[in-house]
Amino acid sequence: MEPRDIEGDLTEILIDEEQIRARLAELCRVIEKDYAGKDLLLVGVLKGAVMVMADLARELVHPITMDWMAVSSYGSGTQSSGVVRILKDLDTDLHGRNVLIVEDIIDSGLTLSWLLANLKSRGPESVEICALLRKPAAARVDIDVKYLGFDIPNQFVVGYGLDFDERYRNLRSVGVLAPHIYA
Ligand code: IMP
Ligand code: MG
Repeated sequence: MEPRDIEGDLTEILIDEEQIRARLAELCRVIEKDYAGKDLLLVGVLKGAVMVMADLARELVHPITMDWMAVSSYGSGTQSSGVVRILKDLDTDLHGRNVLIVEDIIDSGLTLSWLLANLKSRGPESVEICALLRKPAAARVDIDVKYLGFDIPNQFVVGYGLDFDERYRNLRSVGVLAPHIYA
């Protein structure tokens, strides 16, 4: 759906569909160079990364395989605690593999920091991160993101996979959720 279909629920459109498409294409050209001649396993983090995974994978001119993980971060409400539980693990053995974690957004960074350490402990050749969005002002741990789409302000955003209460994932753009929705 388009922002006009949920008029009033957003205060602002931060990044539109075309900007996302163009930026992902740029990232794919770099990824193709970096992994030339190498195998590449994309690991998507459910559910938020579904859209970025689908578009990134299709834009890549490189043979890839895909796998998925679902994790939940213990903590109250919208605050990440860094204590992570695996809800769905990978089906793939990571020994000797080049892993690229595909994420929707890095907020505090706690979830990804845990995931990075977890995947690195499984004997892969390499583990890197690709994230569409990052909120630098919210960072609680330093994360080395090799492929980043956009830095955004420290506001709650929805769309392109990102949800509020499981809604808005199918919005084509990324927008700032209006406060009256979560009040
Ligand atoms: P972190 O551990 O704080 O980095 O948590 C990151 C996770 O929180 C992301 O993968 C999202 O699922 C969720 N998240 C963080 N910020 C937002 C947001 O602005 N909108 C929707 N989900 C968010
Ligand atoms: Mg996520």
